[in-house]
This record gives sequence, C-alpha cells and structure tokens, in this order.
Amino acid sequence: MIKHTRFATLASALFVTIILFAHCALAEGDAEAGKELAYTCLGCHGIEGYRNAYPSYRVPKLGGQKAAYITIALKGYRDNTREHPTMVGQASSLSDREIDDVAAYLASIGGETVAAGGSEIASFDKAQACTACHGKNGVSVNAMWPTLAGQHEDYLLQALQSYREGTRTDPVMSAQASLIADGDVAVLAKYFASLEGLETTEPE
Ligand code: HEC
Ligand code: HEC
Repeated sequence: MIKHTRFATLASALFVTIILFAHCALAEGDAEAGKELAYTCLGCHGIEGYRNAYPSYRVPKLGGQKAAYITIALKGYRDNTREHPTMVGQASSLSDREIDDVAAYLASIGGETVAAGGSEIASFDKAQACTACHGKNGVSVNAMWPTLAGQHEDYLLQALQSYREGTRTDPVMSAQASLIADGDVAVLAKYFASLEGLETTEPE
C-alpha cells in the first residue's frame, strides 16, 4: 500500500514536470500584450534610419524577424553573451513572459511578405555556406535563427564583426563568423541587405 502511494506521488510529480516542460517548450508570446511593451522599443527600432551613436550603424530592423530568435537575442543581452549597454538595459527590465510577448508582436509585423521572402535565390557563391541556416533567399529556415534578408547593411557588418571579435558569442554563429575570409565580411553584409525581407517596425 505504502509502495503504491509513493509510486503514485512519483508518477504525478513526473506528470507535472512533463506538463511544465511542454508548456515552456511551446511558450508562445501574446502579440497583443507585446504591442504595448514595444512602444519604448519603437522609439529606436521604429524610426527609419535611426543610428547607434558609437560606433555608428543603423538600429536593426525587427519587423518580421523570427520570434524565437528575438527571444534568444534579448536573453543574450540580459545574460551578457551580447554586449550593448542600451540593449542590456532594455532586456534586463523585461521578464521572460514579457520577452515572449514583445517577440511575438515584432515577429507579426511584415507577416506574409517576410515569411515568403523575395524571389531572389542566393546564387551568390560566397553566401552558399550561409543559406543552410539563413535560407536560400536570406529568410531563415528555423525560428531560432535570424532572417538576414533586407536587414541594414551596416548592422549586419557590425553583427558579423561582433561575433568575430567575441563581443557577441553564440556556439553556432561564432564559429561560422570566424570562417569568413576577411575580405568577404563586408561583401556578405551587402549581399544579404540587398535581398527583400525585414521591415522597420513603424509605430502605429
Ligand atoms: C535607444 C535605442 C534602443 C531602444 C530603446 C531599444 N533598442 Fe533594441 N537595439 C538597439 C541597437 C542599437 C541594437 C543593436 C545592438 C547590437 O549591436 O548588438 C539593438 C538590438 C536589438 C535586438 C537584436 C536584433 C538582432 O537582429 O539581433 C533586438 C531583438 C532588440 N534590439 C529588441 C528591442 C526591444 C524588444 C526593445 C524594447 C523593449 C528595444 N530593442 C529597445 C537600440 C535600441
Ligand atoms: C549552422 C547555422 C548557421 C550558418 C551556416 C550561418 N549562420 Fe549566421 N547565425 C546563426 C545563428 C544561430 C545566429 C544567431 C546567433 C545568436 O543568437 O547570436 C546567426 C546570426 C547571424 C547574424 C546576426 C544577425 C542579427 O540579426 O544580429 C549574421 C549577420 C549572420 N548570422 C550571418 C551569417 C553569414 C554571413 C553566414 C555565412 C558565412 C552565416 N551566418 C552562416 C546560424 C548560422
């Protein structure tokens, strides 16, 4: 009898764990709630051509970016795998739930256009190594990886340099970035920026 009770307790604990795990794995943000949170963000991300002061490069486009990637990026600033004082401050003020919500909202902008990408297919030789993850037309094939198509050229360059210098680290992309020949970094940034894709998140 006692044995049976202990088994039942163990079984229910396991059940709860599985439910919680499934919930976390599937956690999808609430875009409506995220819209309100995004108000501050659009003070920078919603202004066409707005620049980071030093070094000078344009604030990245987030409209249509993959939701899971936005979540990973925000947690990266919070956990110091990405260095950028303003974004570290912004991300640190958000809870996990808020991060999921704001990511869901930002990803919803641009909708179908970004999901489909332009008709251009990366025929550019030097970009072949990138398309396995970032997609044939620069639209990423996995929600955890960023879409590069249409992103600002100077931001893409800045991001690639950050991985190469180690001020941004990621187990996958740091290795990829280190393999790019010095002369090809700017060429690749220019190429992906030229494809049709991401949009500036305009405040409504
Ligand atoms: C003061 C301007 C400013 C504000 C406000 C701001 N950001 Fe940013 N954000 C930036 C800059 C600049 C970068 C690029 C940082 C870098 O080089 O890593 C960035 C990067 C990001 C990235 C990474 C994009 C990518 O492609 O990797 C995400 C995601 C992001 N911001 C989301 C947000 C959210 C969500 C908010 C609001 C809670 C917000 N930002 C508020 C300026 C801002
Ligand atoms: C095996 C998969 C993979 C390959 C191949 C790959 N990347 Fe990435 N890339 C990623 C992941 C994952 C991230 C996001 C890492 C993070 O969270 O910081 C990323 C991030 C980036 C970013 C930053 C985007 C942003 O919005 O901040 C750029 C730029 C980039 N990759 C360019 C390239 C280029 C150019 C190539 C080809 C030379 C390439 N990548 C090859 C997986 C890959």
